[in-house]
Amino acid sequence: MDQPSERPTIKQRKSVKFSDDTECPTAVKSRLCESFEMYLKYHHEKSENTNQASKQLGLSNGEEEEDPFPMFRRVEKTGVIFATAMAKERGFHPEDPTWANMGQGAPECEALPDAPPRDYKMDISFEEMEYAPTTGITALRDKVATYYNHLYRQGKQSQYKAENVCIVPGGRAGITRIMAVLGETQVGFFNPDYTAYEQALGLFMRLTPSVYVHKDVNEAFMDPDEFEFQTVGRGVGTVLLSNPCNPTGQSIEGDNLEKYVDIARRHNVAMIMDEFYSHYYYDSDAVAPADGGADDDTNWPKTVSSSKYIDDVNKDPILIVNGLTKNWRCPGLRLCWVVAPAPIVELLGAAGSFLDGGANAPSQHLALPLMDLEFIRRDTWALQRHFKLKRDYFLKELEELGIMVVNKPNATFYVWADLSNLPAPLNDSLLFLSECTRHKIICVPGVFFDVNPRGIRHIKKSMCNQNVRFSYGPPMQNLVVGIKNLKEIINKFKINPMRASVYVKTMTGNSLHDSREGALRQTFCAPSTDTSHLVDDE
Ligand SMILES: Cc1ncc(COP(=O)(O)O)c(C=O)c1O
Repeated sequence: MDQPSERPTIKQRKSVKFSDDTECPTAVKSRLCESFEMYLKYHHEKSENTNQASKQLGLSNGEEEEDPFPMFRRVEKTGVIFATAMAKERGFHPEDPTWANMGQGAPECEALPDAPPRDYKMDISFEEMEYAPTTGITALRDKVATYYNHLYRQGKQSQYKAENVCIVPGGRAGITRIMAVLGETQVGFFNPDYTAYEQALGLFMRLTPSVYVHKDVNEAFMDPDEFEFQTVGRGVGTVLLSNPCNPTGQSIEGDNLEKYVDIARRHNVAMIMDEFYSHYYYDSDAVAPADGGADDDTNWPKTVSSSKYIDDVNKDPILIVNGLTKNWRCPGLRLCWVVAPAPIVELLGAAGSFLDGGANAPSQHLALPLMDLEFIRRDTWALQRHFKLKRDYFLKELEELGIMVVNKPNATFYVWADLSNLPAPLNDSLLFLSECTRHKIICVPGVFFDVNPRGIRHIKKSMCNQNVRFSYGPPMQNLVVGIKNLKEIINKFKINPMRASVYVKTMTGNSLHDSREGALRQTFCAPSTDTSHLVDDE
């Protein structure tokens, strides 16, 4: 359950260092950003007009190429797909044990030690072949309401009911439904945050995306007073955020979370709280049953939800998005929910009838035992013990490698690392990825979390250019391989550090790519791969 925690003080961010250990002068710094400029061109300008951007990139000979499908727009790849596509070009296969996929945004789905058994067998009745309601079957909605009431709202007068729950076919479907029912409003979002918010916020023209910027992307936390000042001052009507945060693994909880909810209530600002990782916490004093703690309803592992601080479930403008994808480790089921005031749930149901038609009925029945409280308690204990081991291993190894993690993540299964202490060119997240994929590692460069819906933000240089997200979602053996390969890369560049442009020329060769831009593009744009089969786990 929620426990207030002391936030660590802001630690000093180190300035960019090079191999000779001198401070980075501006001229050299700008060279570091060359790969980022390419990223911008590829993802922003090219999205507007493929032919024009190709010319800018020096990829076309200037003659007008015929667009076979002019009625379609270009849809950008999300971060994981981009990184995986590059890895694929370099021989990645998901079943190959010599690769470490630390870009993966999905938890391992196999049975965990001490976890209660799961029965995934299905026996489908004829009735389940009918359409299910677009808000979900009542039995599942009931169970979701009970889950929130039991964990976070005991003793409170206002309790959730089935009418407060909308079952949706996946978290992104839930977020899209919410975006579809919002009126003309400024929607605040944080940077960095979950990559898919870029598209979710960009799609609906009624919405005006409005960014909240952290002073230090390594300590991505905004004090509630600052949040209130920004929200009210700018007239933000809705805020979307992941808590705990993908990619930083940091969380707003305790008093701070209570204040956020209070601000939403007092100023009537809708808060869309994406609590997809609410079971992945590692900093509680509670003792797991497997370590001698009580094995009954008195002993729950720490989990966090804003629902704890809501006064009236039908009046407070808080929408919670969560589901089986991460916390229950069932990304393939595509079963999630939005918990909200009943009138908003009605709107979400209406949106479901034209957007996605609702979650499939047989899987909703399959999910019912997964929502039993006793199952959830035991399963979450097992999950936290298992993932804490992986987190601790990974953090210790990164420290030994000299990769900074300024704020130790207490939640999710992500590590938001800062590369600025590494020898060049590894201190540039895009070239870091390029080198990683050459050594059979996948990770996601920080720039993908620098959310920029519709390209409305004028970004010359991303504040996340020196950050990278590693995932410890995959099994331990995968992480061990990844650390071994990372060591090789870092040792190589410790001996022979090089400027970004030299790196690119060395890797691509000059004969085919006489333009620098072409060479950079070749290095990290992974342009030709068919990505349609890649696993979409952000
Ligand atoms: C913060 C966050 N919210 C929502 C989702 C969406 O999950 P789903 O796969 O159910 O659409 C993800 C998936 O990575 C996530 O990281």
